[in-house]
Amino acid sequence: MSVQINDKVYWVGKVDDRKVPFHRLILERGTTYNSYLLMTDKPTIIDTVDIAFGREYVDNLMKLINPEAIEYIVINHVEPDHAGALPALAAKAKKAKIVTTELGSQLLKDMFRLHHREFVIVRDGDSLDIGGKTLKFFETPYLHTGETMITYSAEDKTLFPCDIFSTHIAAGELFNDLAQGEYLEDFKVYYKLIMAPHRPYVRDMLDKISALEIEMIAPSHGYILRENAASFIGLYDDMSKDSGNNKTKKVAVVYSTMTGNTAKVAQRLVKGLEDNGIATSVFNLKSADIKEVTEVIKESDGLLAGSSTKYADMVGSVEELLKELKDIPVEGKFAAAFGSYGWSGEAIVHIENYLAEAGFKVVNQNYLVGTIGVDEQLFPLRVKFDREEGMETAEKAGDVFAELVNSN
Ligand SMILES: Cc1cc2nc3c(=O)[nH]c(=O)nc-3n(C[C@H](O)[C@H](O)[C@H](O)COP(=O)(O)O)c2cc1C
Ligand SMILES: [Fe+2]
Ligand SMILES: [Fe+2]
Repeated sequence: MSVQINDKVYWVGKVDDRKVPFHRLILERGTTYNSYLLMTDKPTIIDTVDIAFGREYVDNLMKLINPEAIEYIVINHVEPDHAGALPALAAKAKKAKIVTTELGSQLLKDMFRLHHREFVIVRDGDSLDIGGKTLKFFETPYLHTGETMITYSAEDKTLFPCDIFSTHIAAGELFNDLAQGEYLEDFKVYYKLIMAPHRPYVRDMLDKISALEIEMIAPSHGYILRENAASFIGLYDDMSKDSGNNKTKKVAVVYSTMTGNTAKVAQRLVKGLEDNGIATSVFNLKSADIKEVTEVIKESDGLLAGSSTKYADMVGSVEELLKELKDIPVEGKFAAAFGSYGWSGEAIVHIENYLAEAGFKVVNQNYLVGTIGVDEQLFPLRVKFDREEGMETAEKAGDVFAELVNSN
C-alpha cells in the first residue's frame, strides 16, 4: 500500500494495529511506521518500518520503484521501529547510500553489519540535492536518542522529524484532517513520555526549525499533520516551556581536592547546572565549616559531592561531611558523586555509598539508563586527572543533573 502525500512524495509505511509493546508500555491504539519515498531524479527513502515488517515493506515498495534505482536512504533515527527494515531494503537497493549522522552511522554499522555500505554523514544544517528536491538536515540529539536528526524538504515545505511530533495510533486515514477520532490527547501523551525528559533539547530543536516554512509535518508514527501544522509546533513550544513553577532550584556542590583537579570538575558541573537555571552553592571543604555546609545541603534540592582519590580513599574532610548527612532529611532529593582520579578512583565509589546510605535518590548509570535511556557514563562522574574530554563530560553531567532536579 502507498499513498501520495505531495508532489512525487509517497507514504510507503505500515499500519500496525496490534497492541504493540514499547518501552514497557502497551500501545493500546497500535501505531504506524511511516516511511517515505521521494520519487525524484535521485530517488530517496526517508526512514523505513519496524524490523518485524522488513520483507513486506520491501515487497510493497517494489510495486512503486525498482529498488536498484534508489540513490539515498535517509535514516533519521536508528531505533529498529524505523531503521529495522534497512537491512532488507539495503539488500535490494544495492547502490543506495545511507544518509545519517556520524553517531547514526556507527550504530547502524554495528547493529546491522553494514560496514561495507557507503554512508553520507550529515551535520547540522547540511543540504543534499536529490535531483529536483533539496533536503536539509538538522541534528536533534536526545530527541529521543543521541544520534537523531530531522529532515526537511524545502520544495515541499515538509518536515520529516521521525519520532518528534509523532503519535502512537494506528492511523489508517493517514492525515490528521481525515482523523476518525480524537488524537490530540495521544499526541500530548507521546510528548510527555518520549520527549519531555529531554526538554532542553526540544527547545534547541524548536530554535533550529523556527526559520523553516512548514506546511506539513510527516513524522514516523501516527498522523501526517497537514492541517494546522504550525499548531503542533506551537504545542511542543507550550509543553516544553519552563515547568511553570518559577521557583529556582538549588544544588549544593561540595568537594575535597589535593591539587585542584576535582575543583575544576566541580566548576564544569556548576556551568552545566547554571546554564540550566539552577542556583548553586559551591564549597571547597578545605575552607568551609562542616555544620554550615550541612545546613545549606538541607535547604538545597540536590547535592553533588566530590573527592579525588588518594591511596584508594577520599581526601580532606569530605567523609566527615558525608557522615553528617545521615541525620538530615534528604528523602526524594537527587545526589551524585564525582571526582578526579588517576587510575582507579575509589573515592567516588565511597561517596556514592554514603549518599545512598543517607537516603538520597542516587543518580548513576543504572538510574539514567532506567529512567531516561541515557547510556553515557555521566554519573558517578569520574574524570582522569584534568583531561579536557572528562571536563566536557562534567558539563554534560551538570546539564542532565539540572534537568532531573528541575523536573523533580
Ligand atoms: C599521593 C597520591 C596518591 C594517589 N592515589 C590514587 C589512587 O589510589 N587511585 C587513583 O585512582 N588515583 C590516585 N592518585 C591520583 C589522583 O587521584 C589524581 O592525581 C587526581 O587528579 C588528583 O585530583 P585533585 O587535584 O582533585 O586532588 C593519587 C595521587 C597522589 C598524589
Ligand atoms: Fe525512537
Ligand atoms: Fe519510534
